[in-house]
Amino acid sequence: MRPADTSDLWWRTAVIYCLDIETFQDSDGDGVGDLEGLANRIEYLAELGITCLWLMPFQPTRDLDDGYDITDFYGVDPRLGDLGHVVELLRIAHGRGMRVIIDLVVNHTSDRHPWFVAARRSTRSRYRDYYVWRDRPPRGRPKHPVFPGEEQSVWEKDERSGQYYLHSFYRHQPDLNLENPDVRAEIARIVGFWTKLGVDGFRIDAVPFLIQPPGAADETDPHAFLRELRRFAGRRAGHAVLLGEVGLPHRDQLDYFGGSETELDLQFDFVTAQTAFLAFVRGDARPLAKVLRRRPTIDVRQGWATFLRNHDELSLELLEKDERAAVFAALAPDEKQRVYGRGIVRRLAPMLGGDPRRLRLAYSLLFSLPGAPVLFYGEEIGMGEQPELGDRAAVRSPMQWDRGAYGGFSATRPSRSITGIPDSGYGPDHVNVHDQLRDPDSLLSFVQVLISRYRAAPEIAWGEFTVLDAGEHAVLAHRCRADDRAVLFLHNFSDEPRHVELKTADVGGDRLHDLLAGGAEQAEDGRFVFDLAAYAQRWLRITEMERS
Ligand code: BGC
Repeated sequence: MRPADTSDLWWRTAVIYCLDIETFQDSDGDGVGDLEGLANRIEYLAELGITCLWLMPFQPTRDLDDGYDITDFYGVDPRLGDLGHVVELLRIAHGRGMRVIIDLVVNHTSDRHPWFVAARRSTRSRYRDYYVWRDRPPRGRPKHPVFPGEEQSVWEKDERSGQYYLHSFYRHQPDLNLENPDVRAEIARIVGFWTKLGVDGFRIDAVPFLIQPPGAADETDPHAFLRELRRFAGRRAGHAVLLGEVGLPHRDQLDYFGGSETELDLQFDFVTAQTAFLAFVRGDARPLAKVLRRRPTIDVRQGWATFLRNHDELSLELLEKDERAAVFAALAPDEKQRVYGRGIVRRLAPMLGGDPRRLRLAYSLLFSLPGAPVLFYGEEIGMGEQPELGDRAAVRSPMQWDRGAYGGFSATRPSRSITGIPDSGYGPDHVNVHDQLRDPDSLLSFVQVLISRYRAAPEIAWGEFTVLDAGEHAVLAHRCRADDRAVLFLHNFSDEPRHVELKTADVGGDRLHDLLAGGAEQAEDGRFVFDLAAYAQRWLRITEMERS
């Protein structure tokens, strides 16, 4: 684990922070966040310990899916700034040792993208075949749209030609036709453009839809595209990472890491995220232990991007039916908190009742699991959702910097209000960066500590991972070990204290140093005894290791 061996693979230990420029910081008082505003906050993120920013789409857009409907892949939404601002931001972030990755949304374009406008205008246009057209929706089992209730079908009739075009998401997001080599060349140019400008990689949107559109010819190997993209990105920027959104069970995700040739370097770990919420709800660590024990081993150059919440709904699709029902009942009792029959549109803090003990448990778990942890902006201070913003937008309200008018986000009323919250306890008066930075007991201070411990313990991301038998259903005990270093983690999911005993032979050492609370523990009679308070978490460096 010498830096000489590991630093090329920087993504394995990245601490990733996802944000939408539009809702992070407004610098010119128009109520919309912008690139300059973000640049002014890089210092804050660097101090927090973030090593990689993930910027949600900031290109020109029709803005019907929060920017995931792009009209120009080479531009910047004029409300946010221009390319000059992007370059400045990259310079400032890089100056603080932070990488920057951006969303690559190429499963579809906006229906206002010039390619689709031309494709629609004439069936003879060279852009017609950039999209997927059929004379009628194909027979057989219909593909379901990703947003059921909002869309009935993935095929939309184009009145002009009478043909139907494919849209896996909204009808205003026609799917690109990856079978067309010209489209693949366009995507390569987009990747080439942004890497040349200095971005350090891409979060690839909707990967399974992207590579395998319904209607693709049977003989096509959909993964060939990902391999090609990985090779191309590597040629243009050797250090660039491809982080993929593949919302599938672990075993299916393996295909997307690739075989002898890499496809994706990192993938979000959706299964673990969903199971963590089950564990929070049931006060039972067993489902999580099971999932983690079975999580497939992947190549040393690749990794899992671990997370709890993101900008979308907390999907529960990968849980069993009874598990999903339990999580829904506990975390989204109100129908309005649920979407698409599969997910919850809430932020983590209110879901865990704002209980500081549970929030600490959740984030301690996140930073202790092997992988690159990903935070969604505002999580570090425990922001709440704003249901009145509607569906997924509920979790995308402006960042809360201070108690000032509009939460310090803007000098004017933000385009997305933060004022409408009836005193929920999560508005800027209660939850903001300014106050928490000055409070050593705040969630922000705790997250800062977790990040620094995570960064100082590369064995978490690099080491051999073992789930130990804690002998208590509510307690997850796991160990990360590499070379002569190891850390033992204990998490009590119960609202009651729990007593745990571990044999030194299982722990792999007889002295432990507490990385969060300080102090040391010495084994007695070949075992450690832990009395864990409700929702307690311990990070224990094994200081006297037994030889393996
Ligand atoms: C993104 C969503 C977006 C969709 C369509 C996703 O998976 O995370 O926010 O609506 O892709 O681009």
